[in-house]
Amino acid sequence: GKSKVFVTRNDMPKCGLDLLNKECDVSYWDKPSPAPRQELLKRVAGTNAIYCALSDKIDRELLDAAGPQLKVVSTISVGYDHVDVAECRKRGIRIGYTPDVLTDATAELTLALLLCTSRRLTEAIHEAKTGGWVSWAPTWMTGPGLAGATVGIVGFGRIGQAVGRRVKAFNTAKILYFNRSEKAEAKEIGAEKVTFDELLEKSDFVICTAALVPETKEMFNKAAFAKMKNTAVFVNTSRGGTVDQDALIEALQNNVIWGAGLDVTTPEPLPLDSPLFRLKNCVVLPHIGSAAIEARDTMSTLTAQNILAALNGKDMPAELK
Ligand code: GLV
Ligand code: GLV
Repeated sequence: GKSKVFVTRNDMPKCGLDLLNKECDVSYWDKPSPAPRQELLKRVAGTNAIYCALSDKIDRELLDAAGPQLKVVSTISVGYDHVDVAECRKRGIRIGYTPDVLTDATAELTLALLLCTSRRLTEAIHEAKTGGWVSWAPTWMTGPGLAGATVGIVGFGRIGQAVGRRVKAFNTAKILYFNRSEKAEAKEIGAEKVTFDELLEKSDFVICTAALVPETKEMFNKAAFAKMKNTAVFVNTSRGGTVDQDALIEALQNNVIWGAGLDVTTPEPLPLDSPLFRLKNCVVLPHIGSAAIEARDTMSTLTAQNILAALNGKDMPAELK
């Protein structure tokens, strides 16, 4: 018979689902919102493949609920911190993800968020619409510019490098990066490898594009914010877990740093009563880094191709090794 694929949402981009429907017996969580955990555990039973998203926790309990016939977990994301990779390996379950195809989209959004935060766009738009715009004023709505600035990028993988290439076009003075390993691409981008502390101390803009792993968990803590300039703008488009969020809130409230732009938070969605929503020097986006139409379509196709390849015992186009 046909292989069984379970898709955790009913609103995944259609191009990927069309590919799966041609060869497989595909079932979906049938409501537009994410499946409650208990439902997810019920629905994965007996499936050969799971097409999931970063909001689905793929842990031992879920793998047990799926059963031993599960061959592949394929996530429509580049991040895989929601997947228990070690547990999948132990069970011989292959993992698919979507690197590369969202790099440009996420780098674009990172620049958009950086400019939105530093040039106070949400505040300015609000003022324009609500009567705060009484005349042109020389020091009103001012913020730090990118030209001549030092930009520090933490996590210099594909996305970090793509951000580096883009900020360079804004006539920045210097690009610093912090990464476990040295990156050959840094030379062409003109980025200099430094220690984490040096990056924090010297950068006017600190951008986090590091994957969430044990070594990066809450690396932006109270001590890290204290080392930043009090004029620094912090931007995070990786995972909320890289930040000690209470420490960030305190740093923003006490002007330890100038402002923050966050596409990722803890938890997600961020509760409406979070102080982050009340701080004028903080911009919060609802995790839309890769939300360019073409990127999302390509991600869906790749997620499906990863499943089909794994079910057929072939090389997956993007397997997490
Ligand atoms: C988005 O955050 C992703 O990991 O794809
Ligand atoms: C990390 O996975 C990146 O693409 O930068």
